[in-house]
Amino acid sequence: MKIIMLGAPGAGKGTQAKRLADRLGIPHISTGDIFRANIKNGTDLGKKAKAFMDAGGLVPDSLTLELVMDRIGQEDCKDGYVFDGFPRTIPQAEALESALTAIGQKIDFAVDIDVPDENIVNRMGGRRACLQCGATYHLVYAAPKKEGVCDRCEGSLTLRDDDKPETVKKRLEVYHQQTQPLIDFYQSRDCLVRVDGTKDVEEVFLSILELLGV
Ligand code: AP5
Repeated sequence: MKIIMLGAPGAGKGTQAKRLADRLGIPHISTGDIFRANIKNGTDLGKKAKAFMDAGGLVPDSLTLELVMDRIGQEDCKDGYVFDGFPRTIPQAEALESALTAIGQKIDFAVDIDVPDENIVNRMGGRRACLQCGATYHLVYAAPKKEGVCDRCEGSLTLRDDDKPETVKKRLEVYHQQTQPLIDFYQSRDCLVRVDGTKDVEEVFLSILELLGV
């Protein structure tokens, strides 16, 4: 199954994409995580992406598309994948559609996780991420067992650079301008499903499973 998670920054795309990928036994592909790993490792791609990300903007489509197309060509993607944070612009969605059509494939579901802007800033301030393995937590809603330490790999948890309130505001603006139009795009492809992302993590997950029929 090929699935796209849509939603504002902090709507819970990563949280739900990881659960869904585990449940279905397919890879979770987060462009944000790929960029952050490249920044951490000091690669050329990381150096190019960092300035855009720190400013709350988007990394140019040309850089993003190449890495995604390469990723979905790998063996572990043959039975599907869950995209998290991609596509994020209409040109990215069109490029993905053309690439899949060329090999006789299509997206099965685009899942929009709906959370109003006013809930987002509060969520982002409480998010803590493990830079080592990418796991995410929340100080109130999904706290780690030991404060500041990742349950999975014991890495240290930090506030992402782009989770500061002024950057979150900019990311929300960019989301409304460039990413929200994808809701209509996937609606017109008859694969859009929508969930209320203000419910707790487990309830949102169960709603998604029901909508996907899995
Ligand atoms: P990316 O990493 O994709 O960030 P994002 O889309 O802004 O989304 P987030 O990861 O911030 O949030 P999320 O929806 O995954 O929420 P989460 O599950 O963590 O991208 C970062 C940057 O990279 C972009 O700004 C851009 O510059 C660049 N980039 C990436 N992809 C790109 C692309 N395709 N093209 C161009 N540029 C690209 O949840 C948030 C918090 O809330 C967590 O603490 C979580 O524990 C908590 N939470 C989750 N669900 C719930 C719930 N139901 N109730 C209460 N708390 C909850």
